Amino acid sequence: MVSVRVVFGDSRDMHELPNSSVHLVVTSPPYYNAPFDFPGLFRGYDEYLDLLRGVGRELFRVLRPGRVAVFVTMDVRIDGRLYPIVADLIKTMIGVGFEYQERIIWRKPEATLGLAEGVVC
Ligand SMILES: C[S@@+](CC[C@H](N)C(=O)[O-])C[C@H]1O[C@@H](n2cnc3c(N)ncnc32)[C@H](O)[C@@H]1O
Repeated sequence: MVSVRVVFGDSRDMHELPNSSVHLVVTSPPYYNAPFDFPGLFRGYDEYLDLLRGVGRELFRVLRPGRVAVFVTMDVRIDGRLYPIVADLIKTMIGVGFEYQERIIWRKPEATLGLAEGVVC
């Protein structure tokens, strides 16, 4: 029988999970302050990248060596400015120890953006 435990918390601190105990991560972080997602959630883009870095450190800690983390994300344009979330997420994850493995384009005809990207690290 499979048992499932749901933890409500902040992914920057997953103390419930021991080191190297997770076999696969699939996550969809906020799209910065995208109007369709969480407008005004972050005070600035650097604060957003700090969140990604904090989550990435914890993901790297809990993942078993050789396993992958998949990030569903996309660049977003806010008030005319295009934020390079995909590139910055890859760079941030490499900075916390991941290796960049793959980039997958996911066509989502019903979705707000139409496309999303899966970044595998
Ligand atoms: C783009 S949405 C993804 C939603 C999810 N895929 C779903 O279908 O419900 C981003 C999610 O990240 C969550 N989030 C934001 N900061 C977080 C954090 N520090 N720890 C855990 N989750 C966080 C938000 O609450 C939101 O549900």
